[in-house]
Amino acid sequence: NHMRHVESMAKLPSGAGKITRLNAVILGEALASEEDDLVFPSENFSRQAHVSSLQKYLEMYRRSVQDPAGFWSDIASEFYWREKWGQQVYFENLDIRKGKIQIEWFKGGMTNICYNCLDRNIESGNGDKIAIYWEGNEPGLDSSLTYNQLLARVCQLANYLKDIGVRKGDAVVIYLPMLMELPIAMLACARIGAVHSVVFAGFSAESLAQRIMDCRPKVVITCNAVMRGSKIIYLKEIVDRALMESAQNGINTDVCLTYENESAMKKEMTKWIKGRDIWWQDVIPKYPVTCDVEWVDAEDPLFLLYTSGSTGKPKGVLHTTGGYMVYTATTFKYAFDYKPTDIYWCTADCGWITGHSYVTYGPLLNGATVVIFEGAPSYPDAGRCWDIVDKFKVSIFYTAPTLVRSLMREGDEHVSRYSRKSLRVLGSVGEPINPSAWRWFFNVVGDARCPISDTWWQTETGGFMITPLPGAWPQKPGSATFPFFGVQPVIVDEKGVEIEGECSGYLCVKSSWPGAFRTLYGDHERYEATYFSAFPGYYFSGDGCSRDKDGYCWLTGRVDDVINVSGHRIGTAEVESALVSHPQCAEAAVVGVEHEVKGQGIYAFVTLVEGVPYSDDLRKSLVMVVRNQIGAFAAPDKIHWAPGLPKTRSGKIMRRILRKIASRQLDELGDTSTLADPTVVDQLIALADC
Ligand code: WTA
Repeated sequence: NHMRHVESMAKLPSGAGKITRLNAVILGEALASEEDDLVFPSENFSRQAHVSSLQKYLEMYRRSVQDPAGFWSDIASEFYWREKWGQQVYFENLDIRKGKIQIEWFKGGMTNICYNCLDRNIESGNGDKIAIYWEGNEPGLDSSLTYNQLLARVCQLANYLKDIGVRKGDAVVIYLPMLMELPIAMLACARIGAVHSVVFAGFSAESLAQRIMDCRPKVVITCNAVMRGSKIIYLKEIVDRALMESAQNGINTDVCLTYENESAMKKEMTKWIKGRDIWWQDVIPKYPVTCDVEWVDAEDPLFLLYTSGSTGKPKGVLHTTGGYMVYTATTFKYAFDYKPTDIYWCTADCGWITGHSYVTYGPLLNGATVVIFEGAPSYPDAGRCWDIVDKFKVSIFYTAPTLVRSLMREGDEHVSRYSRKSLRVLGSVGEPINPSAWRWFFNVVGDARCPISDTWWQTETGGFMITPLPGAWPQKPGSATFPFFGVQPVIVDEKGVEIEGECSGYLCVKSSWPGAFRTLYGDHERYEATYFSAFPGYYFSGDGCSRDKDGYCWLTGRVDDVINVSGHRIGTAEVESALVSHPQCAEAAVVGVEHEVKGQGIYAFVTLVEGVPYSDDLRKSLVMVVRNQIGAFAAPDKIHWAPGLPKTRSGKIMRRILRKIASRQLDELGDTSTLADPTVVDQLIALADC
């Protein structure tokens, strides 16, 4: 099916080496249709690429879906396995009608992802290669680790963790900013078979406590503070509050291992709880620099990562070891056309899936040199990214559309004053990239020389699902193009029927891939209900997608109640529940609204408790309650006073109407006659700018 779409694409005019319609764009001519705008890789780029043509992709893709076991076994064999997997390379049931949803890859195989990232690359002669370049918040503050050095640091921490009783299968919560210690901590857990749960260090104490209570770690790893731009964030205090809250709920954490991030805050200034808190620098350097590997089954858990859904509390997405390893490594290699001489920088934080798969595991599995940046991309000025690119000679730069748009607003001078000639491939992730941001990224940042890999994927998918392979086919600004090897995406209608050709609908996947998540931690039923029940027989992504006449995929955003703010997934229900926890808030309804930089902004309709007057202070305290319960990144952009909310007679809030009011598309409100009280709509419109 997909093959047919792609094959029809193969009939496209061959324009390799030419940038056809793009010239028109550069010259400022309006295009008849966005979709017809093809951007070809240069002949030179294609010639040296891992996948140099559409034909080659099609051959590989065909094999990957016709013989997944053979295709993925061949790739998996490039890694080190203590014991080979069993007869059955994979097992899958994605059809809820046939019983329990289950996905397994390489079951019975014994391996270790830390070993494959470090020891294996060292044994093949890369011990002295730089594994990590670290750039601090302050320009001029930097350091680096070779693969040998990184292994030694990982082993020391792994030995310590074992010493305090962390065993295979135990959870470890990591709440760190982008210090080298963050990937070190992840790898140390993986080495001993412990399950890491990294919590983005922008989450509030309450969110952290929730995650701690869900997975009950023996140890929490953090640092005392971090500077982001000119702002200091006292991380240890947030952890203290979270640990206090979880202790009040009967969950006790033995150890809080705290790294002294000296450039932000001295040890002496840090509040300390004797007996529980341990300074990293006091203990870790004393441990041996070698540590035996715990060999684990391919299906043993590697990590938990919480993500937002359309309802209630965050979901603990669980990834296992073997399939995730093979998948992140392979997607990294092909989607970025990675070569051993590349210097790779992904601006994502390890607190999100992008930082797991494409800061830590994917690149290190390939023996890559990775840049890690502690600071904010606009500090000390909007040229910082390109300063870092020039400094480390970054050749692959992977970021989010929100950053592209915010830098675009600052003007081209901040870019053009840097050379950027080391850049070879650009990447985008987190939300659809709008064509104008795509063009700016391509023309201004990449000097019309670097293909852009617009990678569509999710926390749940572990790795890239729909992505260009730079060099293999022409791109269209804003399209994630075609599926990665082994991925069989389908577009279905409301009834769950696959639709073909040019169409739009719900994006599903009809077979498993090695990097797929296996369950939601402690709640397999929710896993089945959320992802496999809406359209039986398929994994449902929660995204809408359309396919154009050439078979290119265009992601159109979430179709559920999840909003995507600066590439961060936020459940409207989470924000609503934070708002209604405010004693003066009676009811809240949150919708996403288009935002020039963030992609989507958070727009909250709030009904106050009877008799409470509206005030600016109250507005601020409502925003504060969300910051405190979730984190600053989830703070509503707008609070809209709502004496009443548009509800159906059965009491269901009609979000469709709220979205139209939020985006001021007042002439598109549609039918309001089914509302219990249609006059609330006029009330809301009248209060829109209060
Ligand atoms: C969105 C981030 C369009 C999408 C890796 C998805 C994208 C959600 C893209 C997952 C892209 C991510 N084009 N939309 N290239 N990449 N998304 O779990 O809505 O934080 O469902 O994973 O981000 O967000 P998550």
